Amino acid sequence: MAVRENHNEMKRIFLLFLAAVLFGSTCVADEPDSVYIFSYARAQDEGRSGLLFAWSRDQQNWHPVGNGFGFVKSDYGRWGSEKRMIRPFLFYDADDLWHCIWNLDNKEGAVAYTSSKDLLYWMPQSYFISQKALKRFTPEKMNAERSRQQQIVIAGAAETGVIKKVPWNIVSGLIKKEQLSGYRSRLWGETTKEDARRFAGLKPLKLVISPEPAGAKKISNLLMGVFFEDINYAADGGLYAELIQNRDFEYAPSDKENRDPAWNSKKAWSLSGNGAEFTIDSVHPVHPNNKNYAVLKTAGGQTGVINEGFDGIAVTAGERYDFSLFVRSMSGKKKALAIRLIGRQGEELAAASVKEPTGEWQQLRTVLIARKTAAGARLEIVLQPESVIAIDMVSLFPQKTFRARKNGLRADLAASIADLHPRFVRFPGGCVAHGDGLENIYHWKNTIGPLEARKPQRNLWGYHQTAGLGYFEYFQFCEDIGAAPLPVVAAGVPCQNSARHGHPLGGQQGGIPLDEMDRYIQDVLDLIEWANGSAQTKWGSLRAAAGHPEPFNLKYIGIGNEDLISEVFTERFTLIYKAVKEKYPAITIIGTAGPFFEGADYTEGWKLATKLGVPMIDEHYYVPPAWFIYNQDFYDKYDRAGPRVYLGEYAAHLPDRPNNLETALAEAIHLTALERNGDVVHMASYAPLLAKENHTQWNPDLIYFNNTTIKRTTGYYIQQLFGQNAGDEYIPAKAMYSDNNEKVKNRVAWSIVRNSHTKELIIKMVNLLPVPATLSLDMDSFRFSNPTIIKTVLKGRPDEKDLVPVQTAVVINEIRTIELAPYSFTVLRIKP
Ligand code: AHR
Repeated sequence: MAVRENHNEMKRIFLLFLAAVLFGSTCVADEPDSVYIFSYARAQDEGRSGLLFAWSRDQQNWHPVGNGFGFVKSDYGRWGSEKRMIRPFLFYDADDLWHCIWNLDNKEGAVAYTSSKDLLYWMPQSYFISQKALKRFTPEKMNAERSRQQQIVIAGAAETGVIKKVPWNIVSGLIKKEQLSGYRSRLWGETTKEDARRFAGLKPLKLVISPEPAGAKKISNLLMGVFFEDINYAADGGLYAELIQNRDFEYAPSDKENRDPAWNSKKAWSLSGNGAEFTIDSVHPVHPNNKNYAVLKTAGGQTGVINEGFDGIAVTAGERYDFSLFVRSMSGKKKALAIRLIGRQGEELAAASVKEPTGEWQQLRTVLIARKTAAGARLEIVLQPESVIAIDMVSLFPQKTFRARKNGLRADLAASIADLHPRFVRFPGGCVAHGDGLENIYHWKNTIGPLEARKPQRNLWGYHQTAGLGYFEYFQFCEDIGAAPLPVVAAGVPCQNSARHGHPLGGQQGGIPLDEMDRYIQDVLDLIEWANGSAQTKWGSLRAAAGHPEPFNLKYIGIGNEDLISEVFTERFTLIYKAVKEKYPAITIIGTAGPFFEGADYTEGWKLATKLGVPMIDEHYYVPPAWFIYNQDFYDKYDRAGPRVYLGEYAAHLPDRPNNLETALAEAIHLTALERNGDVVHMASYAPLLAKENHTQWNPDLIYFNNTTIKRTTGYYIQQLFGQNAGDEYIPAKAMYSDNNEKVKNRVAWSIVRNSHTKELIIKMVNLLPVPATLSLDMDSFRFSNPTIIKTVLKGRPDEKDLVPVQTAVVINEIRTIELAPYSFTVLRIKP
């Protein structure tokens, strides 16, 4: 048996390997002093593999470094299609830096720039409209460097690039980096599919855990939270309980990346009967922020206009639904309008009417009571013969929303979020927070106040957001479930994955112009006043008018979302950060460190935050399950005196992206490590949270749903078990294993926390091995006499997706030795 330590054998091997890779060995007999390198991007894939290298002693025989291993990948533009590196050229300059410049497409002359000291670590990228705009170099210099490009045949294909003579250690560094990358891919690519082979003959593991309560440390009591983003129809058609799709007639082809002409103001609407006309107008709208409305002109006969809802409208027999619309008569005819819910076969499920419209916009309301339960109902507004009416903001809302809030949330979905017991809710994203291009940045002010005055907008995930679920509703939901609100605002720059949208410099397009930043910063300051100011303040009075005179007690605000730490970002982030810090020193500002657990944005994001004294940093990483297995000490190395971490987005991703027991247990392993590092990691939220069946842009998610049912995933239960069994003290422990193989030891993890208020002790144990692990728990140090103990177990086959945890009551002697089933998660909750 051996003592488990954080700096384990695996790490030692890895570090030795890393050292060899980075520093190389110095005495290989026939190493040349210098060689030629050829830097290029594959013409064939328009540089999507990134900047490649080949080397040669004689400029005749070229050896590619790795098979298409990209040392720099263009991060410009929309994921996939737009991330191209065209005709890169590399040069070394007097400032001891390598500079790499490439074109972003074949047409518009936009260029990208990055630099490196060693060709291994590359700085965050910057994008410019033209080579000329890259002020660091004169046009003459650039032309001279570019003119050095030449064609070489590499692996049978003619490639254009630049040849340089370099010392051999540069090349050996490149080779080793590529090898390290291959090694890591293999290690982190391990899945349970190979377990039968990997662990053939493995004996059940024996493990002795001896807690050391004297060494208990304080950890965050806010660790477990949720990340909410309107992705996968999470808001409209999802958590937001509105049942009418395109209620505002504001859908537009531009909501979709392919500008789908069928996705327009009439989407989800149709006419019933004959002889009516249905047009869209925008003269004299209900509100300038909501410019389109429908005009319905009828001749004789019975006609109606129908809304199909989001995949149909689900109604329950006996339940009440609030109907409302804005309407005006354009023909002088003033007759009451019948409103009906109809089933798939046209059968009437509910009926009511609203009074006759006048010549001015008026909001009319009625209540529909469903006579039958139906999943695929539709709403019909029955039109009077020979009339012309304009309608807008047509709404059907269940009265049964979460906590019976008006304009509230779908009760069952909201309850499933509340059941996670989240300590905070992050919103409105994700990428939605900083948007697809400058015009798509999410502005909180557009999302408060009367619904007809809110500003709907294109959702960067390819649909439409009404802003019906806006900042007031987010804050109210947080309050309803006892979670801290965590709004994330853009750092004055849009998403690094923004599309071009026809701009000369599309994609990130730089940031909000500096002369408009004061206004933007004021918006951020106003948000804090809106949330926390008294009802007498300008913005606090709007919150009070919306029905919440008491402050919302905002404590955290995120600035930026996994942005590129470019100069454009740095300048804007710093301005916002300083202004918020100065005016609201008590608010904890959360900075950002890119979308990965390493790399330029991670490193430079951390450097910037540390330099500015930003108290907390938002990290994101979506990684294979084995990354979690082999990186349990990721946070053990973090500076305890530096900024705190908010792990804002993470998930285990397997090929095909399932959410199954394997991914869930890998996340559980990570969560035990987060608890152990709860003095540094303050908050964590799995992402994304919600996904609607058949409308999913991103997998895996935590909760899948359709209009009538909700599926809590296996990963959901892990989050829930950590959320419901959190503590504010971490108790370290010594462990002894019967098998010291690192692949074995790293697949078993645990954490022991205590709730200092209730004095409950919680022990969580993960076994990601195909064999049982028998765990002897030394409980004597806790001096329990007759505690109440609840044991919860989640177990199954790694590929299973429909597992639920099972709870039993046990007595203390049953937990002194406890068997962890293969592929299982066990929680013991011990009440003294
Ligand atoms: O969680 C889905 C997306 O992943 C988020 O919008 C973005 O921040 C990240 O890239």
